[in-house]
Amino acid sequence: MGEKYYKYVIVGGGVAAGYAAREFANLGLQPGELAIISKEAVAPYERPALSKAYLFPEGAARLPGFHVCVGSGGERLLPEWYTKKGIDLILGTEVVKADVASKTLTTAYGAVYKYGTTLVATGSTFIKLSDFGVPDADAHGIYYLREIKEADALVQAIKTKKDAVAVVVGGGYIGLELAAVLVLNKLKVTMVYPGPWCMPRLFTTHIASFYEGYYKAKGVTIVKGTVASGFETDQHGHVKLVKLKDGRELPADIVVVGVGARPVLAPFKGQLAEEKGGFKVDGFFKTNVPDVYAVGDVATFPLKLYSDTRRVEHVDHSRKSAIHAVQKCHSWFLPRICPLSYLWLHYYVETQRGWLSWLAWHPKFLWSQAIKAAEAGNSIPEYDYLPYFYSRSFDLSWQFYGDNVGEDVVFGRDNTTTQPKFGAYWIKDGKIVGAFLEGGTPEENKALAKLAKEQPTAPSKETLLAEGLNFALMT
Ligand code: FDA
Ligand code: NAD
Repeated sequence: MGEKYYKYVIVGGGVAAGYAAREFANLGLQPGELAIISKEAVAPYERPALSKAYLFPEGAARLPGFHVCVGSGGERLLPEWYTKKGIDLILGTEVVKADVASKTLTTAYGAVYKYGTTLVATGSTFIKLSDFGVPDADAHGIYYLREIKEADALVQAIKTKKDAVAVVVGGGYIGLELAAVLVLNKLKVTMVYPGPWCMPRLFTTHIASFYEGYYKAKGVTIVKGTVASGFETDQHGHVKLVKLKDGRELPADIVVVGVGARPVLAPFKGQLAEEKGGFKVDGFFKTNVPDVYAVGDVATFPLKLYSDTRRVEHVDHSRKSAIHAVQKCHSWFLPRICPLSYLWLHYYVETQRGWLSWLAWHPKFLWSQAIKAAEAGNSIPEYDYLPYFYSRSFDLSWQFYGDNVGEDVVFGRDNTTTQPKFGAYWIKDGKIVGAFLEGGTPEENKALAKLAKEQPTAPSKETLLAEGLNFALMT
């Protein structure tokens, strides 16, 4: 099998890949310059739909309805869009080996692709209960959710097992969103999680108690402080019972597991520097290896706002990191400012190949010039991200901006209203660094984002409690 060369190859075909492709096209792309190699069989789509509208009993979301970039209010990139732009979508194809020295990617089918620049956008995969040594965790009827094929399997199970009993293992994002859609599908749902409250990586006990109360009122049974330690199956190998570590047993027709995710590093593992579980990148998503960028869930990037490095597993960052990386790795500066001189220089470099011309004008040098210009404070800034997470379930919808560190102040919690609206601020070193709001309007959420970005000095706890949301609106 021969090798094929692309100037740019995106490895992975999820959210970041789709947004990166749009950015390449926006900045000017020649047909045949870009390929996306994706394990999934469909063009990039907005993954958050899979744990929400994709599982609705009525009016469920289906492709092509939620291809990127509809999730952020942009154009929907149908497969035809890629064809029109001359972007090769190589779908249903896993990259099993990458060699950054020879700039070569090998697929599971044995095809070999060479690249000029590559963007690693392989996202995350779910952690399985078998990874914790839980026996029988691969029995029929036990579901995980990451990609459309898993969502389809779950839809099928829900349809064929009407009025079934479901156990949701995990009390994080997947656990809470899935428990809600299973209830909407009229399943009897029990959630099990090890912590003393749900969503411990973001919620305080005070915030969590609201959601736990709401879920209980919707009929969800909550079992806390224990984990699934095994399963019992019927004669067909189908799950029928979840065994808990504390000795309890829960009957189950369907089990959905959401016990965390881990970034997919495999094809590049050992060749790129790592930090905090992801590939270490700079403020332009460049790894330590020339011409290799990493974006989305797999990237551990400098979070300027907190003088820290972080890896973020949320959709807003996957979109923005992809856009940012492309802006930096694309030689856009000269072609845009002065297209004729760019063409002439390209011709000159290609024909003369002199060291002076190469050094001065080769497009690769232009990239580094662009990065250097950014570092010098010119028009190309480093990634400056404000963390933003959100979730929706039942009639609830919350947003969070910033950092959930320090002391928290929860305001406006009122369980008696049918349209709950309450929030929280996090205070560190006398400044407000994080803000959460349930049931906010777009304007209110915008005010929260501004607050978390600007980090104003916090007034007294009493003042914050009294002013509540108004504090964000007035700042
Ligand atoms: P993403 O996972 O989107 O894409 C990775 C792609 O790479 C996949 O297509 C995969 O098949 C492919 N791939 C992996 N290895 C490969 C290889 N070796 N060769 C070829 N292809 C390979 N966030 C949020 O903020 N709000 C929300 O509501 C939700 N909801 C949500 C629901 C569900 C069900 C999930 C699983 C996740 C969310 N998220 C979320 C998280 C969000 O979707 C996630 O952070 C982004 O999708 C990450 O984008 P990436 O492009 O990095 O990975
Ligand atoms: P998570 O990290 O949000 O939650 C994992 C949960 O599992 C935690 O509550 C943890 O206490 C619990 N847990 C850990 N070990 C356990 C065990 N042995 N038994 C039972 N519970 C256990 O991860 P997730 O919910 O699986 O989400 C997976 C990925 O999908 C994450 O990257 C997440 O960001 C993403 N996602 C995000 C959204 C959103 O942002 N709205 C929605 C869905 C998924």
